[in-house]
Amino acid sequence: MVQNAGMTRVLLLLPTRTYRTADFLAAADRLGVEVVVGAERRNALESLADGGTMLVRLDDPERGAAMVERYAREHPLDAVVGVDDGSTVVAAAAAERLGLPHNPPDAVRRSRDKAQTRAAFAAAGLATPTYAVHSALIDAPALATLAEATRYPSVLKPLERSGSQGVIRADNPEQLVAAFRRIAVILGCDVDMPGGSADGRGRHPKILIEDFIPGVEVAVEGILRGGELEVLAIFDKPDPLDGPFFEETLLVTPSRLSLDRQREVEAAVARATQALGLREGPVHAEVRLNDQGTWLLEVAARSIGGLCARTLRFGAGVSLEELILRHAAGLELPAHQREEVASGVLMLPIPRAGRLRDVRGQAAAAAVPHIEGLSITVPRGEMVVPLPEGDRYLGFLFARAPSPDAVEVALRAAWAALDVVISEI
Ligand SMILES: Nc1ncnc2c1ncn2[C@@H]1O[C@H](COP(=O)(O)OP(=O)(O)O)[C@@H](O)[C@H]1O
Ligand SMILES: [Mg+2]
Repeated sequence: MVQNAGMTRVLLLLPTRTYRTADFLAAADRLGVEVVVGAERRNALESLADGGTMLVRLDDPERGAAMVERYAREHPLDAVVGVDDGSTVVAAAAAERLGLPHNPPDAVRRSRDKAQTRAAFAAAGLATPTYAVHSALIDAPALATLAEATRYPSVLKPLERSGSQGVIRADNPEQLVAAFRRIAVILGCDVDMPGGSADGRGRHPKILIEDFIPGVEVAVEGILRGGELEVLAIFDKPDPLDGPFFEETLLVTPSRLSLDRQREVEAAVARATQALGLREGPVHAEVRLNDQGTWLLEVAARSIGGLCARTLRFGAGVSLEELILRHAAGLELPAHQREEVASGVLMLPIPRAGRLRDVRGQAAAAAVPHIEGLSITVPRGEMVVPLPEGDRYLGFLFARAPSPDAVEVALRAAWAALDVVISEI
């Protein structure tokens, strides 16, 4: 095949369960960039055969990066883009080998590990919860001692999950013991085998316990260029996130926080990216605000998850994926102020465990004023599991309106119109 010598070629590394494939491919198409798709499984690649595909190990960053390096000898790459948490470390390691602009792989690893993230934030003097890390395999007496010594309310979580999977609040020792054991099971530990040394795969899972930080929460979407953070959007999370589980539902932008508070949030996230050592590409951060300060929960070296990026449109209709690809490939960024109107998304939670039979009321939900889209992402007939064990959303509702309040009202009304039918088996 004759290669177009002038064409920009980007390798997109797709974790098997990403929601983002179509949106990234559409962005590449608009840009006229050639995309090579890398994934772990051949069946994930079959439908995407266009610009070339390759198999990449995503579970082992060094081997994955070596596979990309070999591929690039034959097919030179201008950028390697990791799409979600599952591929950002490999993307950084591969870009490093190829001499492309990238985040230091260690910085991405740090951002993926909640204990390392806490340590980096604390060392940089950022407001971040006090924390401790424990083996998920401690025996019952040790767990009882730990529960007595813990300050409440506290939050327990695995070190390397996302989407609030396994994140549980505990208000007293009894709840802590229950939450701890529940997370250990999520991590694959056999909790009835005290003293075991590893989960089924020989790993040594850990659980983070930290102070619960009360307050309101916002999410920040930004892009780093040469270590400088540009904030693209701040989202309010208007549903209270007080636990015991932390189901994300509504995200609305622009934020209704005071401009002063927004500047504080932006400054805190910029310092947090520096604390982690991140330098290039998209970042997604979560921040809690209360009288005590601006608290950094997380900064991920990727863009917003699920289909939520569809809420964002910049300049003359540019998507977030387009900005990310342009930046990665060293192309100029067009004007990219976020559009004037307010917008938002509702991540539809899975209400209970069972088999998804139907989502009724979709036409009524879509007909609510300002609703722009509804995407049910779990096929009918599949088993669904709610948080804290679950690891996916039922779907996404999108709205655009003149004001953030109107966006929120529309999303709530459309949600109320939906009837999720789940059967026992
Ligand atoms: N220490 C904390 N205090 C208060 N809320 C928390 C705390 N840790 C986590 N949460 C809540 O749980 C959500 C998910 O936790 P997070 O650490 O961001 O894990 P994940 O990687 O799953 O997103 C947060 O967005 C926040 O609402
Ligand atoms: Mg988070």
